[in-house]
Amino acid sequence: MIIGQITDLHIGFDGQDKRCANMQRLHHVLDSLRSFRRGPDLLLLTGDLVESGEQWAYEKLKDALTSLHIPAYFALGNHDNRDAFADVFGDANFNDGFLQYVIEDHPVRIIVLDSLKPGRHGGSFCARRADWLRARLSEQPDRPTLIALHHPPIVTHIGWMTAKPGADWTRRLSEVVSDFPNVIQIISGHIHRTITQPFAGSLVSVANSVAPQVKLEFAQIDADIPDGRILLTEDLPGYCLHYWDGETLTTHTGTSPEGRVIARFDEKHSSVVHLTTDAGGQNPKIMGEH
Ligand SMILES: [Fe+2]
Ligand SMILES: [Fe+2]
Repeated sequence: MIIGQITDLHIGFDGQDKRCANMQRLHHVLDSLRSFRRGPDLLLLTGDLVESGEQWAYEKLKDALTSLHIPAYFALGNHDNRDAFADVFGDANFNDGFLQYVIEDHPVRIIVLDSLKPGRHGGSFCARRADWLRARLSEQPDRPTLIALHHPPIVTHIGWMTAKPGADWTRRLSEVVSDFPNVIQIISGHIHRTITQPFAGSLVSVANSVAPQVKLEFAQIDADIPDGRILLTEDLPGYCLHYWDGETLTTHTGTSPEGRVIARFDEKHSSVVHLTTDAGGQNPKIMGEH
């Protein structure tokens, strides 16, 4: 199965009646997802769906997704609003007041978590949510399970976009996940960059964002000293495809729109494909011939 993931759409950033640059970026990504000969079986949207938690923005998002024709599932981020989201997505699966639920009908079991605490930028994962997760994981401890949430529970080393070392909420999540080796990966967003890091015997991955990207910079930052560093860049919007082959989950990252095509599998390049698909074949000459 192929699990599609997009994150941090921030629809409505430019205001209700303005042309929305982030919506344009979303359409590029949806075009890419539709273009695959073998595309995702479902799409997970891992939070910061809209910029300011407003109902009209969720309605625009809902309209945009109708063209995709695969099931879409949502996690909420710090820019989201549970009530406004629920007003638009009436079948949203809230449990104990949080948008947390299980997707059971695929080879990989998917558990969506809610790391939102209204008014807080960083993540949150309280004892109630931890108990809920432990109960769900205990139901099927031998089944490959993917967790999806907005906030990655990791120290990113990007000073202004990171969980704090030893934060209560990341420790709480770690304590649950470490008891379940069947958690194959924890997919997330929020950082607006692609990152991977081991976590509690599993792996956290952060997907690149649909909205503009956070600049990679490890130099320490002092919130009281604006030093002119770049914070955000208008790189291409992105997505992830997580490919499950029955044993291993492989995460691929893409951006949209695709770059210029330099080769196709046509008569001219059939020998190249023979070489690359034959084990031990010679290096094909394909790059630089155009
Ligand atoms: Fe975001
Ligand atoms: Fe976020």
